[in-house]
Amino acid sequence: MNYLAPSILAADFSCLGEQVKCLERAGADYVHIDVMDGAFVPSISFGMPVIRTIRPCTGLAFDVHLMIEEPARYLKKFAECGADMVSVHAESCRHLDRTIDEVKQLGLRASVALNPATSLHVLEYVLPKLDMVLLMTVNPGFGGQKFIPGMKEKIRSLRQMAESRGLAVDIEVDGGITLENVESILEAGANVVVAGSSVFKGDIEGNVKSFLGKMGHACD
Ligand code: DX5
Ligand code: ZN
Repeated sequence: MNYLAPSILAADFSCLGEQVKCLERAGADYVHIDVMDGAFVPSISFGMPVIRTIRPCTGLAFDVHLMIEEPARYLKKFAECGADMVSVHAESCRHLDRTIDEVKQLGLRASVALNPATSLHVLEYVLPKLDMVLLMTVNPGFGGQKFIPGMKEKIRSLRQMAESRGLAVDIEVDGGITLENVESILEAGANVVVAGSSVFKGDIEGNVKSFLGKMGHACD
């Protein structure tokens, strides 16, 4: 099953609640929420107060992508403000295995995110614990960048690695996904698609529906 997770980093923050409702109406699956701390990545985005504010606006699952140093310090707070699934970066966790356990103990779906240059090897001993792996297909920190072509091979290798171990883990791709490249990215083995600028530029509902169409996703 394929899932669409529009990234609200590209939304109009002056009417964020409305835009999140619009995603739900159009049939999106998750709301992808990019939290940036200005240390792990150069930008600062938003944190718990914003997530808490939009939580009542939708029943969609909140897919929280933590681009912050030592995310273990804040997991409980993200659970309390409405996260359903949390991605922690392997590069930002000193004790990745323990951090994954903590995410699961909070009742959240656990995911590990990898920067483009990070090898899949870091997943070797934790993959069976994960619900999802988030492969960054741009360097994290900004929306609107171009998909790094070499990442298709990485998606393929991860799907192979999971299948050879009999694991049905979700593979989420994040960065530079467009209506033009989404089909080939799914074909490589991804099944959760993050899209920021290509959803929020122009007609949001129309864009979500176009993505869902290309993803073989049943629309209402
Ligand atoms: C980048 C973020 C992405 C970003 C994607 O650091 O993790 O989720 O919002 O934006 P687009 O789809 O515009 O590349
Ligand atoms: Zn993201």
